[in-house]
Amino acid sequence: MSVRNRIEILHGVNLDQLGRRNPEHYGGLTFDALEYRITDWAAELGLTARFFQTNFEGEFVEHLHKLEGLADGIILNPGAWTHYSWAIRDALELAALPAVEVHLSDVKQREEWRRMSVIEDLCVETVSGKGPDGYLDALTRIKAVLDA
Ligand code: DQA
Repeated sequence: MSVRNRIEILHGVNLDQLGRRNPEHYGGLTFDALEYRITDWAAELGLTARFFQTNFEGEFVEHLHKLEGLADGIILNPGAWTHYSWAIRDALELAALPAVEVHLSDVKQREEWRRMSVIEDLCVETVSGKGPDGYLDALTRIKAVLDA
């Protein structure tokens, strides 16, 4: 069987503004710096990371539609859409790939409305509140799933 190592890293609404957002929750890392870090971690694990970010929900949905045959696993941080976008949930289900949900901040310890995730049960794991290091956890978890 061919190697399954292609990981799609999806970021949703407002994540491109990292570095400008509240450092108390999101730290000071810029979005570009986060992507560089993830690229390095992925390479160390023998994975290939491909990135997509959008502030448009329909684009996020359409990107999920197009992943068939192009990715082996998904790591996604949909931002605020996590808490209410049933459209993204349906598209993630349709993508039918192992997925890990990541949040930089500890969403369960913040406002009530952030505690709900409409994608959580579709994901093999949710990593929350670990800052950028959460993506290393996510990559490690998805690798374990793909290697199993
Ligand atoms: C976030 C948490 C969400 O509640 C928030 O809307 C974001 C970022 C996180 O990474 O902690 O935009 O997904």
